[in-house]
Amino acid sequence: MIKEIIESYSILAKEFNILVDEPMENYTSLKIGGKADIVALPKHRFELKNLLKRACELDIPVTLFGMGTNLLITDRGIRGLVVITKQLKSKIQIIEKDRDFITIFVDAGERLSKVCQFAINNTLSGLEFAAGIPGTIGGAIMMNAGTKSGEMSTIIKSIEVLNQDTFEMKTIEKDLLNFSYRHLNLSGIIVSAVITLKKGNQERIEQIFKHNLNKKNTSQPVSFASAGCFFKNPVEGTSAGELIDKAGLKGMSVNDAAVSEKHGNFIVNLGNASCEDVFLLKQQIQEKVLEEFNIKLETEVRIEGE
Ligand code: EPU
Repeated sequence: MIKEIIESYSILAKEFNILVDEPMENYTSLKIGGKADIVALPKHRFELKNLLKRACELDIPVTLFGMGTNLLITDRGIRGLVVITKQLKSKIQIIEKDRDFITIFVDAGERLSKVCQFAINNTLSGLEFAAGIPGTIGGAIMMNAGTKSGEMSTIIKSIEVLNQDTFEMKTIEKDLLNFSYRHLNLSGIIVSAVITLKKGNQERIEQIFKHNLNKKNTSQPVSFASAGCFFKNPVEGTSAGELIDKAGLKGMSVNDAAVSEKHGNFIVNLGNASCEDVFLLKQQIQEKVLEEFNIKLETEVRIEGE
């Protein structure tokens, strides 16, 4: 590594809590990824802001993610600073109440599952679709996580975003947010969200959460390391999982990376899969599905690293 880079890393390490040469496999649900040069897990929005500002001044490239549940990191790892937002959290707060609706404030690093539990405990409806979806609220909003019964865009009232050029924070109302299927077109970093949920019936809410969770547990390989659905569903027609299944690819593997026997759209890590194994498998799946059905599957999982 060149001298200037090492110097800039050590300046940052003197001012912030930094981990050096950190293996990224420990931070992704796929359990894959080489080392990152330096890693920070800020606990407060101002720590995040100061860290990013300083990294910018020192010309250090930044990669940012939450719980790494939709992420594939290359075997050579990530150069520069990795900022992990999963510790950026505080108490979930009720900020507004009326007859039918309750509005809550959540920090971006909060787990989606914890917000779901908050909804259940407070008899609030709107998040049932998210039962069993892993990751942070910030990550879920950024990829507009969802299922057939709903997606994040339906419950967001506004988000607070940190501008990576000016380092100012501003609130963006839902109407100005450009959500699409598994995507939010946004530059900047989500720091918090305001979510509107509807007062509901305790028994009914619990029942739907339980039903959705059971469905997920029976149809998806939840006990294996994976990054969730690997490909986006085609805009119309048959789902990616069904296409992969019909092409006879379930169980196909490259070393320890395998197409799940349970759900065709999951690539699972059977133990020691590398990113290269996943790439090769992904390519083979795409080629086979293109050949069989003339459909080009697009990756849903975000890929980072050298
Ligand atoms: N199917 C098969 N074989 C398979 C998998 C699925 O024939 O191996 C069939 C199913 O029987 C069903 C259809 O394909 O008729 C759709 O399957 P499923 O209900 O599992 O839904 P999906 O479209 O594959 C989507 C989301 C999931 C979400 C589920 C549950 C995407 C890419 N995936 O999957 O989200 O959990 O709906 O509603 O939109 C994720 O985004 O990471 C994810 C897992």
